[in-house]
Amino acid sequence: MTRILVTGGAGYIGSTATAILFDRGYEVVVFDDLSTGHADAVDSRATFVQGSLLDPAALRNALVGCQAVIHFAGKSLVGESVEKPELYHHVNVDGTQNLLDAMAIHGIDKIVFSSSAATYGQPVDDPITEESVASPTNPYGASKLAIDKMISASGISAISLRYFNVAGAYESKTGWLAERHNPETHLIPLVLRATESNPLKIFGTDWDTADGTCIRDYVHVVDLIEAHILALGALQPHLHEIVNLGSGGGYSVRQVISAAESVLGRTVPAVESPRRAGDPATLVASIVKANSLLGWKPSRELNSMLRDAVNSQVQ
Ligand code: UFG
Repeated sequence: MTRILVTGGAGYIGSTATAILFDRGYEVVVFDDLSTGHADAVDSRATFVQGSLLDPAALRNALVGCQAVIHFAGKSLVGESVEKPELYHHVNVDGTQNLLDAMAIHGIDKIVFSSSAATYGQPVDDPITEESVASPTNPYGASKLAIDKMISASGISAISLRYFNVAGAYESKTGWLAERHNPETHLIPLVLRATESNPLKIFGTDWDTADGTCIRDYVHVVDLIEAHILALGALQPHLHEIVNLGSGGGYSVRQVISAAESVLGRTVPAVESPRRAGDPATLVASIVKANSLLGWKPSRELNSMLRDAVNSQVQ
């Protein structure tokens, strides 16, 4: 049985990956410092190691018996990264170097890494391909790009998956694995919890898009994890591939609100607000490479992401 180390396995995406990996017959060791994750999100079948990427000995111990790594752990708030760039470099880049060093000690040479669309910065292409210029506009994106380069230089078998906007939720055998960020900054959870007294702020209505609001490419977390499992099977010796993961199409903020209103059967209170610093107008992934290299295609639409997000929030 293949034993995988899942770093960040107590977070929204990592906990979903852990549950689905077990459902598919993998064995998982979860490594998470619980700085932003939740212990109760860790699948009960997993071996859980509470540890930090900044602790080389803890990493070495957790890797015993593993054949591959799926690396989700890291700081992931764009706004916070602007305020604390050193922290983002330290945890994300130095922490990943520790992980790669520990893997080398054990002779483990397979990794699937959660990179980000934030590596591209202000996009010059629509859709964005893996050949598009990577020029991050914040320390979070810069840290992900630095890790991608570090992995390339290491010569191990690797696939970096550059996520666009991840949404939805997975219903595991023990319940929904909800998106539970604190603070929550992502559009869909905020749309679902908006009230008259605390309406959703629409960040900018004067963008150069059809309805003036930003366009993003949303991908269901279950489809996203499916791509990770395919990536594990597609790793090639000494080759590092970069693959975008999105749906290949985009929705504006207003379109997301209106789809949420249909799913919820009520209006979503929203107010027009100034643009958020650093936001590009449009971010849409080309998923041609994900399809050709991994044989992957997303199968869950925006409505399914919204329905699953609603169900996961009410449990
Ligand atoms: N938005 C609002 N109001 C809100 C929150 C978001 O209008 O209260 C808008 C944003 O301006 C943006 C869209 O909704 O246009 C999506 O915003 P999110 O914060 O949900 O997601 P981002 O596109 O900013 O960020 C995502 C990932 C990041 C990653 C980035 C890559 O969450 O980790 O894509 O650019 F860095």
